[in-house]
Amino acid sequence: MTFSFDLKATDGKARTGLISTPRGEIRTPAFMPVGTAATVKAMLPESVAETGADILLGNTYHLMLRPTAERIDRLGGLHKFMNWERPILTDSGGFQVMSLADLRKLTERGVTFKSHIDGSKHEITPERSMEIQRLLGSDIVMCFDECPALPADRDRIAESMRLSMRWAQRSRDAFGDRPGHALFGIQQGGLEEDFRAESAEALRAIGFDGYAVGGLAVGEGQAAMFGCLDFAADQLPEDKPRYLMGVGKPDDIVGAVARGIDMMDCVLPSRSGRTGQVFTRRGVVNIKNARHADDPRPLDEDCRCLACRSYSRAYLHHVFRSQEIISSMLLTWHNLTYYQDLMQQMRKAIAAGRFDAWQTAFHTSRAQGDL
Ligand code: GUN
Ligand code: ZN
Repeated sequence: MTFSFDLKATDGKARTGLISTPRGEIRTPAFMPVGTAATVKAMLPESVAETGADILLGNTYHLMLRPTAERIDRLGGLHKFMNWERPILTDSGGFQVMSLADLRKLTERGVTFKSHIDGSKHEITPERSMEIQRLLGSDIVMCFDECPALPADRDRIAESMRLSMRWAQRSRDAFGDRPGHALFGIQQGGLEEDFRAESAEALRAIGFDGYAVGGLAVGEGQAAMFGCLDFAADQLPEDKPRYLMGVGKPDDIVGAVARGIDMMDCVLPSRSGRTGQVFTRRGVVNIKNARHADDPRPLDEDCRCLACRSYSRAYLHHVFRSQEIISSMLLTWHNLTYYQDLMQQMRKAIAAGRFDAWQTAFHTSRAQGDL
């Protein structure tokens, strides 16, 4: 069995399709819940599957530090370790080193840093990142890349992008030929159209199973991100999945799909579940708010999730205020279900050729505000 992408339908720039892997199929547009430390926080893997997720994201950076890639390999790989048998995509580590680690040093060879957990010293190179992701047993492996914080000047953006493209070639060489496993390249180049084009061309020349748009959602704002996606997605091959890394809020996701993106990941639905921020069809609800204390209604009348089927806003407000563990469980379950239902609605609308009308309805129902 090999890795393949079948584009089923397009509507404007929006696409719907199916990625096939030996561990199962991924319906696109796909949202990948984040399982950084071999768990989607507050969720059982069975519950994550029930929300409708076909694939999870794991992190090289966190897992190499604790419990280590070698230990996970000895225990039979990440799927078995965390009891998730469906596909897993792993990020390559560079982006997390830059945002989380101490005393980072970047050279042509790679990056050295001190662990944010115990201060121990480590190095990740493109070769080491490929080795770690192989030990984890990742189905979709990401190239090792580097991403400058925005705003940065054009020289810095170009230099960083070209380093990432040299690392992309080294990642490709080190990954080798692994049937059934995919390697994705990552486009960089900030918000600059010419650098994005140069990066896309460099990645195409190397050849990957999929192409990510990196370096966005790093503080540039939605309008700038959409402006960049207007050209960045078109620069990537049409016949391979396109993955926008680290995005985003529901309206970011809808806008990205409208611009030709097939896959996304974000901590937002799971992290917000733990801070009491709830996504609904009518907009964001903060369950902490006192106005929910006597409210017998569910969070979202139209939601199929456990939290909405069996609990009132009053209960969810109470357990959140009391810092009960079930609060994180129920709110995360709801938020992940909301995100997966959003993806399902978009897949259906694109396949039926009515994505524009669907988008209008999506924005209208949110404009009515939360209840
Ligand atoms: N996650 C969010 N953005 C990025 C990026 O540019 N590169 C990588 N590797 N991961 C990301
Ligand atoms: Zn719900």
